[in-house]
Amino acid sequence: MAVTALVGAQWGDEGKGKIIDILAEKSDMVVRAQGGNNAGHTVVANGVTYKLRLIPSGILYNNAICVVGNGTVIDPAVILSEMDDLSGKGIDVSRLKIDARAHVIFPYHLVIDELSEKARGNGDIGTTKRGIGPCYMDKAERIGIRMCDLINPDVFTEKLRRNVTVKNEIITKIYGGEPVSYEKILADYNGYAKRLAPHVCDTSVLVYNAIKAGKNVLMEGAQGALLDLDVGTYPYVTSSHPISGGFCVGAGVGPTLIDSCLGIAKAYTTRVGKGPFPTELDDEVGERIRTVGAEFGTVTGRPRRCGWLDAVILRFAVRVNGLTGLALNKLDTLTGLRKLKVCVAYQKNGETITDFPSDISALEGCQPIYEEYDGWTEDISKAKTLNDLPKNAVAYLRAIEKAIDCPVKMVGVGPDRTQNFEI
Ligand code: GDP
Ligand code: IMO
Ligand code: MG
Repeated sequence: MAVTALVGAQWGDEGKGKIIDILAEKSDMVVRAQGGNNAGHTVVANGVTYKLRLIPSGILYNNAICVVGNGTVIDPAVILSEMDDLSGKGIDVSRLKIDARAHVIFPYHLVIDELSEKARGNGDIGTTKRGIGPCYMDKAERIGIRMCDLINPDVFTEKLRRNVTVKNEIITKIYGGEPVSYEKILADYNGYAKRLAPHVCDTSVLVYNAIKAGKNVLMEGAQGALLDLDVGTYPYVTSSHPISGGFCVGAGVGPTLIDSCLGIAKAYTTRVGKGPFPTELDDEVGERIRTVGAEFGTVTGRPRRCGWLDAVILRFAVRVNGLTGLALNKLDTLTGLRKLKVCVAYQKNGETITDFPSDISALEGCQPIYEEYDGWTEDISKAKTLNDLPKNAVAYLRAIEKAIDCPVKMVGVGPDRTQNFEI
């Protein structure tokens, strides 16, 4: 397996957690490199459901070292409660390594996330309100507080004092909100620092040494290509880089060290939060997909918007990530639909558009051009090979491969780690 990057190919929630968990069995190291607890990765193993936010989904196997890289943003209270939760279930979390350069999320980030969303009114982004954007803003402004600062009391006390002063000005004077308490944050975060310090190190060295030693390293993407800050549907995006290039920056490894890149997609499309969605279904088919697929956000519980599979989006994901294969999840959710549609291009002002538009005003008014396929009614949730699938399901898979010019390498037919097979 060597070094495999795994990324979301749509708008997040493609089932990355399940595939990471499956591949982690054969991995020596699993690495998160961007995002924070805006991610919610579900793993169903031996009848137990785990919802992981920051800790790599590889933690459920005893073998893998789990790395939270420099490109992530960490809410210490959240990662500690996740660690406690996992420990309570008998999972050894001493294998968790956190990069000293990762940025720390503070209560003022959450407050500003909430207040700035409110101030945007109808133009809100629909963020997870976990302080992700405001924390990355501090990083770019070069006033952020990193894990190495958090565990160094002298540096921390001073940096925190300066930041709380500035943030309280913004909270109270710009947004009319309530100030946060410096003393409370200092006390709480000094407590978190003591507990997290044994896990903090230079993870770039760990990852590099593992790769050099020929270990199997799995890079765990969060979010998805269309939520990428640069190439996604800006401004309706997250504040980091969920595409494969994000691993180089966020884990501190060069691109030549990554051997392959697996994209994860659903057999249809979903999106949580605001922003354009050309194949969205506002009808009973969309409602049925949401109900059968249990399409409600892992982090916020919001209903996910649902629509047909969009091959224009997947071709974009193949391009910007350099995908070498696709894992297609939730094929089982489509069982029972008489007809299935795949969007192969968009139409706008009489023109056919085959490349995903680079800005959302160009995307406005794009009408999907669909190809239609016959559905199937057989239960596929126990399928173990391609031969166990109805011929219409195989035809659907093959049509997707053709439309996106990328092979489907894994198929998901249920949420459990056993309900997946390679082809
Ligand atoms: P992630 O953020 O990409 O890890 O995905 P989430 O965990 O947020 O959302 C994916 C949801 O689909 C979870 O509830 C998974 O348990 C579930 N899931 C994953 N693969 C399959 C599949 O093949 N079939 C079904 N029915 N559910 C799946
Ligand atoms: P996983 O890893 C789906 C979305 C939010 C919002 C936008 C910005 O589980 O696939 P943010 O809080 O990041 O500033 O919100 O990004 N978003 C996700 N949508 N899955 C995720 O993660 C997401 N992480 C962020 O809904 O539209
Ligand atoms: Mg998710």
